[in-house]
Amino acid sequence: MSKASTPVDHALFEFIARTTIQEDDLLRSLREAAAREGLPEIHIAPEQAAFLQLILRAANARTVIEVGTLGGYSAIAMARGLPANGRVITHELDPKHAAFAEQWIERSDQRGKIEVRVGNAVQTLPSLADGSADAVFLDADKPGYVTYLQHAMRLLRPGGILLADNVLADGEVSDPKATSTTALAIRRFLAAVQATVSLRSVIVPLGDGCLFGVKDE
Ligand code: SAH
Ligand code: DHB
Ligand code: MG
Repeated sequence: MSKASTPVDHALFEFIARTTIQEDDLLRSLREAAAREGLPEIHIAPEQAAFLQLILRAANARTVIEVGTLGGYSAIAMARGLPANGRVITHELDPKHAAFAEQWIERSDQRGKIEVRVGNAVQTLPSLADGSADAVFLDADKPGYVTYLQHAMRLLRPGGILLADNVLADGEVSDPKATSTTALAIRRFLAAVQATVSLRSVIVPLGDGCLFGVKDE
């Protein structure tokens, strides 16, 4: 057994992205339109989108709760991993991001499967019922992740899946000298994840790092 992992440098990451599922025309157009309209370019990477979609498909997920919609890139990608009666309930603070997402969801093949809830997720998540989600994807403000983790553990059914973006904090997570708000928030989040006894998880180093966890049955 190999003890060492293969170091993945930029060139190898580029190779992984190239050889993973191709982005389709709709998601590419959405990404380009979002950049033109001044939305921040912080959507998940296409290879992460493929990963999320395949995880949901493999788990036969039907109901997914997302925190942090932005332009709807990840919501549409995840909806494609769900059956026809599947549902993504996605939460977005910024009305401009939500309006952009709703417009693109409507013109996508996934219209009818995605609902955008506008407002601070801290206020909008409590209305969702305990155990109602097969999966939860966290991708909003990083200082909120610990609170969103508490909601996720309440919302997930036994055996449900927790996913969270940016757990490498741009590479700062393991750098003891890094004290950015994001680095501190992600370290607090990962400590809270490890302290959650009913959750098993790994970090998948795609994009800026994707936490993948399963709530105990
Ligand atoms: N998941 C998206 C990217 C999300 S970017 C994708 O891959 O396409 C983070 C988003 O979280 C931003 O649109 C931001 O406005 C939103 N956000 C930040 N704080 C929030 C909060 N408290 N509640 C809901 N959304 C929030
Ligand atoms: C930010 C948020 C994200 O979800 C991300 O992937 C990158 C950056 C941010 O708020 O800066
Ligand atoms: Mg993110």
